[in-house]
Amino acid sequence: MSEIKLEELFLELTKEFNETKSLVRVVLSGRRRNMQVEHERIDFRPVLIKDELKIQVSYSDGRQMTSKNFTAREAPFNELMRSGYANIHLETTSETISVRISKKGEPLVHRESVAKDQVLAHDRSKSRLLDSADPFLIAVGISDKTGAVKPSKMDKYLQVEEFLRILTPALTAAISAGHVHTPTEARPLRIVDLGCGHAYLTFATHQYLRAQGIPVKVIGIDIRSTARDRNNQIAHDLGISDSMEFLAEEISETSLHEADVAIALHACDTATDDAIAWAVKCDVRLALVAPCCHHDIQAQMNEIPEPWSLVTKNGIMKERLGDLLTDAIRMQLMKLSGYRVEAIEFIGGEHTPRNLMIRAVKTGATPEPKEMAKYDEMLALWKVKPALASLLNR
Ligand SMILES: C[S@@+](CC[C@H](N)C(=O)[O-])C[C@H]1O[C@@H](n2cnc3c(N)ncnc32)[C@H](O)[C@@H]1O
Repeated sequence: MSEIKLEELFLELTKEFNETKSLVRVVLSGRRRNMQVEHERIDFRPVLIKDELKIQVSYSDGRQMTSKNFTAREAPFNELMRSGYANIHLETTSETISVRISKKGEPLVHRESVAKDQVLAHDRSKSRLLDSADPFLIAVGISDKTGAVKPSKMDKYLQVEEFLRILTPALTAAISAGHVHTPTEARPLRIVDLGCGHAYLTFATHQYLRAQGIPVKVIGIDIRSTARDRNNQIAHDLGISDSMEFLAEEISETSLHEADVAIALHACDTATDDAIAWAVKCDVRLALVAPCCHHDIQAQMNEIPEPWSLVTKNGIMKERLGDLLTDAIRMQLMKLSGYRVEAIEFIGGEHTPRNLMIRAVKTGATPEPKEMAKYDEMLALWKVKPALASLLNR
């Protein structure tokens, strides 16, 4: 009886699949009892390539994903659907059908009328650097098990993408200018993420650069041991613990003393100063730092040099000016330490509206005396002593 039901369902799903004008996507996952499947999960979706409709099939082994395009007639949906997957999730422009095949081979079907758009753009992966169904995004919790970005994690997903868009050209430019060595398997690029938290950006950096053929060794540091344990487990599950490691340490006291690239994104308050100081002292070649809350200089802005009270009399403006002063001073300190430094815009995280990023490349250029004078003048004007200056013994 259940075999007849299952066969009827397979026929119905094949029919839906062949309706390429309304098909949105299909995901096959899980394994039926006593059956073996070749891939951990398979995604199908229609795409337009040079005005021709194709079916893109993405195979995932739980660690990496590979894709292949077929004509609609040749797409191996029917055979793969029957090959032993326990879950079939099919979306059309008007309905979602979710099937779970029980241990007894009984199909449990859930249908829902939901309107969805067909996204036929083949170059979706060009506008999106990461496929939302990439196993690492599922492992870190940005995407759900069907490979769709969780609505609550959309901000983070966009932030991760934005970060990769900043990191990649900065890195390529630094390598071609000789500021960063050309990474090889024997001498991979050593990247450290200071204050990595849930390590969305750490994993993204590792996976994305590796997918670009850049050998990397990535280390994430966070004060919280729960973050370390969770992140090490994910790296282990993804089979990448050889080139990824997480430590539970204070940035200022970390046992790590070497890296080519340092990233520190929204590390709280003066943890950003600890991160910059670490990068400078360890002679890091490229640093990408997105500061978070700034209390250090804010708390010292007591004697306002006139006519700046026009700004500081407004609480919100005083706070923003404090942020800018903090980051301008941080940048100048990096400049004085031989870095070429720029402030660029970075998408804000879910915890902070702050959207500034400091991008610094170690060129080793000796700063002109007037740069030191400007720095001294700024501190004297505002009567402040920045945390980073103390950390760098300035
Ligand atoms: C706002 S979260 C940002 C996490 C991650 N960088 C991101 O952008 O998604 C800041 C993280 O920095 C960590 N942190 C703060 N101060 C630190 C310190 N002094 N040493 C190490 N980690 C620190 C916190 O535990 C937290 O996980």
